[in-house]
Amino acid sequence: MAHYILEPFKIKSVEAMPVTTRDARVQFMREAGYNIFHLPSRAVTIDFLTDSGTSAMSDHQWAGIMEGDEAYAGSRNYYHLRDVVKDIFGFDLFVPTHQGRGAEQVLFSIVTGPGKTIPNNTHFDTTRANIEARGAAARDLVIPEGLAPTNRHPFKGNMDVAALEKLIQQVGVANIPLAMTTITNNAVGGQPVSIANIRATKELLARYQIPFYIDACRYAENCYFIQQREPGYRDKSIKEIARELFSYADGFTMSAKKDGLVNIGGLLATRDPALFEQIQNRLILTEGFPTYGGLARRDLEALARGLVEATDEKYLAYRTGQVAYLAERLLESGVPIVEPPGGHAVFLDAKRFLPHIPQTQFPAQALTVALYLEGGIRAVEIGGVMFAQKDAATGNVTYPMLELVRLAIPRRVYTQSHLDYVAEVITKVYETRESVRGLKMVYEQARLRHFTARFVSTN
Ligand code: F0G
Repeated sequence: MAHYILEPFKIKSVEAMPVTTRDARVQFMREAGYNIFHLPSRAVTIDFLTDSGTSAMSDHQWAGIMEGDEAYAGSRNYYHLRDVVKDIFGFDLFVPTHQGRGAEQVLFSIVTGPGKTIPNNTHFDTTRANIEARGAAARDLVIPEGLAPTNRHPFKGNMDVAALEKLIQQVGVANIPLAMTTITNNAVGGQPVSIANIRATKELLARYQIPFYIDACRYAENCYFIQQREPGYRDKSIKEIARELFSYADGFTMSAKKDGLVNIGGLLATRDPALFEQIQNRLILTEGFPTYGGLARRDLEALARGLVEATDEKYLAYRTGQVAYLAERLLESGVPIVEPPGGHAVFLDAKRFLPHIPQTQFPAQALTVALYLEGGIRAVEIGGVMFAQKDAATGNVTYPMLELVRLAIPRRVYTQSHLDYVAEVITKVYETRESVRGLKMVYEQARLRHFTARFVSTN
């Protein structure tokens, strides 16, 4: 039986949740072109589109909002954030950014360009797009276990270090301005990366003098998995683990909208003083002055407090436990998911869920439509719509290995009965899966097409 871990908080303020009829949902979905990104939130009952910027802030964070010192330069909230960044990550040189892709944009506009390659365990879509937009190549090098949905490897997010070395030899050190590891590895299921793998990646990169950057969005969840799963870390605190992990990094980008427990914000840090100077100059052009970086100072305060709250073990046990609970309930009903579940989301395996829909008809997208129609649940496709690559010369399309539907769980927002409802809706869709039809894409843009694409049913 699935076990639910007690929330280590009680609820002080509530927000009404829309409840709709099936007829209304059919209409909303048609108007949305069978793309959940086009749905208004008033049409959505349970919103699992993303765990990004959707957290509930604590009373302590809200109190911090009132203590915003809105000075353009040198706000006290900036100094507080600086102290927290130093304490958790051990970095002196950092800037706030408006969100994760703000950090990516600033970093990659400086270090990448045509002919360059940025390896990662798996790039998130905005990271890849920010690299490709500058004419550089983004390469994914996750271990093979990461792409096998039922392989219960404890660290499926790991970098394939041997493949990384091969890539370095192929494209040449001069063409790799930096290499990254994303923790947790969102695109393959929110899977963690072990500290041994981080260390091995660092050792390899150090031999070739290539800087090592971490995409740190969900670093606290990753550190919790290290504590629970990696030999030798059971008695270490989350902060101690984070300190060690980031000691191997030459820099990091972070969307603070995840493990920063805020609704907006990001960070960019480096150990390279010359690069930091360039970062500050670029930041002033596109984000803002280095002591606020595109954020209100009250937001810096909420972030400083949120970063500390996210390292709390009781919170992380509940957080990862909630994801594991939903996964367990679905497995009990025979629903195919990525196993083991990751830190922030349960991923449905659409290839096994809807084997009658070919990849050319976007099975994962079709599943997101079915979940919405059945119960007003908004989940997101991570499959062919997001990642298929079209060869410009031949027009041939290469589909990704995995067709997943991500149920990303906002932090501190939904309760056990919300999750029970979700499990019941998905089970119902699974029991009637033969009736789900594929989709035909009728509109797409060149980059990040999943946000704006429109479809019709193949009925
Ligand atoms: N890196 C990773 C691993 C991410 O998951 C995200 C965002 C970003 C970078 C970009 O950060 O949104 O603050 O600009 N992920 C969200 C998601 C959008 O739904 O997974 P951002």
